[in-house]
Amino acid sequence: MDVCGSVLETIGGTPLVELRRIAGRARGRVFAKLELLNPGGSIKDRSALAIVEAAERQGQLKKGGTVIELTSGNMGTGLAVVCAVKGYPMIAVMSEGNSEERRQMLRAVGAKVVVVPQVGTKRPGQVSREDLEAVDRETTRLTRQLKAFRADQFHNEFNVRAHELMTGREIWEQTEGRVTAFVTSIGSGGTFIGVSRFLKKSNPSVKCFAAEPASAPFIAGRRVTSTSHKIQGTGYALKPPLWDDDLCDGFLTATDQEAIRYARLLGRKEGIFAGFSSGANVACAMKLARKAERGDVVVTVLPDTGLKYLSTDLIASNSVSSQ
Ligand SMILES: Cc1ncc(COP(=O)(O)O)c(C=O)c1O
Repeated sequence: MDVCGSVLETIGGTPLVELRRIAGRARGRVFAKLELLNPGGSIKDRSALAIVEAAERQGQLKKGGTVIELTSGNMGTGLAVVCAVKGYPMIAVMSEGNSEERRQMLRAVGAKVVVVPQVGTKRPGQVSREDLEAVDRETTRLTRQLKAFRADQFHNEFNVRAHELMTGREIWEQTEGRVTAFVTSIGSGGTFIGVSRFLKKSNPSVKCFAAEPASAPFIAGRRVTSTSHKIQGTGYALKPPLWDDDLCDGFLTATDQEAIRYARLLGRKEGIFAGFSSGANVACAMKLARKAERGDVVVTVLPDTGLKYLSTDLIASNSVSSQ
């Protein structure tokens, strides 16, 4: 029988799809890796699996131990998927600003969800740096209280390794070494750092770009006007602790409007229903493709599915009236 022993065997190995209809006549070719097809609906399943299995090997996580994580939803869901299969209780600590369906998905795969109230005014669908700091304080408190294993995606090197050994290698192999540029948005930085490390090791001339929200180009060292934006899971106006300047050839930005526009184009032109950061990533990949040499291969990732944003303004109201 050609079957999987558990859903964990379906993590990674995602398809790389050329976005021909969106790229149109741009000089470069644009390819997107469909991370939304992972079982938890996001790229973070890869990090979750790598972090939990490293903790098991290193004895930090023993039978019945509780796993806890600060999450915008995706890392928590990835961990919950892994914990459900392996039998660990899982607690996800998240901001009230993250969308409701993210909480529901976490609960559906067995996680307990602790929701931290937003700092100052409530902004549905938007999580600022101050909100993230409040979630961090609560996660630290609960970790001590419960003697839990904190996955700690922002500091855990296995978050990066997952993308170096899996995502980066897959992109290299799927493009048969022809990738010329890579771009992605930054949350923990795991995707950018891991993928860029593998690609540059394989071919030092591959150019790697970090995408940031237009209102918070913090890592680029530019002025931050607002840390409240719609590109959830990214753009916290902080330099990820695992960041490596040597891997980054430049910075690009996307506005909320660009992220929404390209997420909608992904749906309408390519038949791919993806989230805000996917829209931002494709917007930035298009900026590179327009300036590229003819035939250059620009690769990005689509970090999560649009199903995680049904309660937001991601989807256009294009219903046809019955009259
Ligand atoms: C929707 C979404 N996009 C992008 C990212 C950024 O990924 P990374 O943490 O690897 O930088 C995340 C991280 O959680 C995310 O949830």
